[in-house]
Amino acid sequence: MSKILVTGGTGYIGSHACVELIESGNEVVIVDNLYNSNIAVLDRIEKLTGVRPTFYEMDILDADGLRRVFHEHKIDAVIHFAGYKAVGESVEKPLEYYHNNITGSLTLYMVMKEVGCKTLVFSSSATVYGSPKSCPIEEDFPVSTTNPYGSTKLMNEMILKDICISDPEWSVLCLRYFNPIGAHKSGLLGEVPNGIPNNLVPYIARVAIGQLEYLRVFGDDYDTVDGTGVRDYIHVVDLAKGHVSAVNHALGVKGFDTINLGTGNGYSVLEVLHAYEKACGKTLPYKVVERRSGDIATCFASTTKAKEVLGWEANYTIDEMCEDSWRFTQMNPKGIGTDL
Ligand code: NAD
Ligand code: WQD
Repeated sequence: MSKILVTGGTGYIGSHACVELIESGNEVVIVDNLYNSNIAVLDRIEKLTGVRPTFYEMDILDADGLRRVFHEHKIDAVIHFAGYKAVGESVEKPLEYYHNNITGSLTLYMVMKEVGCKTLVFSSSATVYGSPKSCPIEEDFPVSTTNPYGSTKLMNEMILKDICISDPEWSVLCLRYFNPIGAHKSGLLGEVPNGIPNNLVPYIARVAIGQLEYLRVFGDDYDTVDGTGVRDYIHVVDLAKGHVSAVNHALGVKGFDTINLGTGNGYSVLEVLHAYEKACGKTLPYKVVERRSGDIATCFASTTKAKEVLGWEANYTIDEMCEDSWRFTQMNPKGIGTDL
């Protein structure tokens, strides 16, 4: 059993990871400032696992606070989810994004170094591949970014690589997620976007529940199966299980590595819409509009390295992802912490 510090542990992916970590016998300590999550998530983790994680309402920019956490707990490894994640907003507010995602992360890494906790799993993103030359995308493909959010992910990877070069005691795994969707089967945990969703499935979910009128499909003239954008959607529970494998692996090795977490399958916008229609039993209206600036046609992962290194692969189908999203949406029409 290991004791894992989970930053951002009340957030969408972090909360699912906490459940999987606890269910596989680990102890979890969460640090989250509740900027984009609700304290009620803790009740739900407890309801699902029978264990209430230790929780610190704290900003990762608070170095003294983090020191206190490490002194109060003998942490074996950190999974670092905390950060801002909206691509469009990062273009409007670059300073806030760099401050939170870079200065915040640096603060965490400094304190980890100070206290001698040198095992880390970092939430990176497929966004670091920019516009990939081909698919499936392998981990050694060139990296580049087109927005401040993506730059914060790539910069974190560079910083962590340099830390590992400087000190061979460190073990760092950067997990490059493709498109996480879906929710816990119980309907108790899921994604609660702030305001109007930017991402496809949260948007479709609002159309299905009647809070938004129709889906805008951003372009149908890409070179894809039906002209709409193709992505590698991965169930958040599969992703969470990937973190359990990753942290176990990181605890047994040293050095820096990057690993894709995806399914290796690509689905178009219309294919996802139709899977969601099947899940909710309704026809969902959509209109094709202009391409969204910065979008690429196709993006899906090579999953070979994750299988080889972590012994992990995704299992859930696109139909299950949509069914679980729909169950969560129906059970939590106003989000978590407002209705239970
Ligand atoms: P989320 O917003 O649901 O969770 C992030 C959590 O971090 C929130 O609970 C928020 O309150 C907390 N947080 C933010 N800044 C903090 C700070 N300074 N101090 C303490 N807590 C802070 O997001 P998510 O979808 O669960 O994403 C988790 C991580 O995975 C993020 O780093 C994100 O960039 C990355 N990621 C997400 C996706 C995706 O599509 N959801 C894809 C690739 C990578
Ligand atoms: C998916 C597809 C859209 C909304 C983003 C980030 C990435 C990562 C995951 C964090 C695209 C289309 C979308 C809509 C649409 N996040 N779409 N109508 O852009 O692949 O990735 O989230 O790291 O960094 O960029 O995900 O869900 O926004 O879009 O037609 O209302 O759905 O054009 O083809 P994306 P998405």
